Amino acid sequence: MSTAMEVKTSADLAQQPEEYRKAVEKIVVSHAVNELYGAQVFDEPAIKLAPTPYTKWLACRIAMEEYHHHVRFKGLADEMGVSPERMDPRNKKPLSIFGFELKTWPEFCVIKAIADYAEILQVEDLLHCSFHPLRNLGRITMPEEKFHAKFGKDMCLELIQAGRGAEVQDAINRYFPITPAFFGAANSTNNETYRKWGLKQRTNEEMRADFMQRVTELVEKDFGLTLPTLH
Ligand SMILES: [Fe+2]
Ligand SMILES: [Fe+2]
Repeated sequence: MSTAMEVKTSADLAQQPEEYRKAVEKIVVSHAVNELYGAQVFDEPAIKLAPTPYTKWLACRIAMEEYHHHVRFKGLADEMGVSPERMDPRNKKPLSIFGFELKTWPEFCVIKAIADYAEILQVEDLLHCSFHPLRNLGRITMPEEKFHAKFGKDMCLELIQAGRGAEVQDAINRYFPITPAFFGAANSTNNETYRKWGLKQRTNEEMRADFMQRVTELVEKDFGLTLPTLH
């Protein structure tokens, strides 16, 4: 059960119970770190991999937006008094979803189609967050994450239509298996605390199930490819 509390500003946050403050910090720091790391390992390198001026322009736009997401979440963390070291990927280990070594353009297209959809689900959960500054960040970020996922889907479809479906399939085979872990452990105590305080709405398992259903539809119905079975 979530409480009906509403916290409107970072100044008001300082007055809240420690458990609430720590939970908000964890969410903000996690977004700040992962947006930065994703931009560094995927989006910025993708500019070089993009095959045409048009796709380079799109890749630049995506890299710009992902760095901006980091800047926004870090801005909120600064306002909350979180130390900058906590948002440095060198100090906080980024999620496994970013552990993939990007080498080709089809891989980047698959990452955007699948991982940014996972990110949409995470941001969606912030839209009704009891801490309003986080809710507002979710609302600003959402259209851009939707654009990234749509870009990934459209680019994968273009590759498939150009006879490069095998490369898309190969990237899915190697990338998809590391994505379900993005939603965290089942029965996570962090998630329980987030829901208790109305910071998040869904369990990790509910989000993962939603993700699996959507990715199955994307890969099998939209792409006409096969989703690898998970072990
Ligand atoms: Fe992002
Ligand atoms: Fe994104």
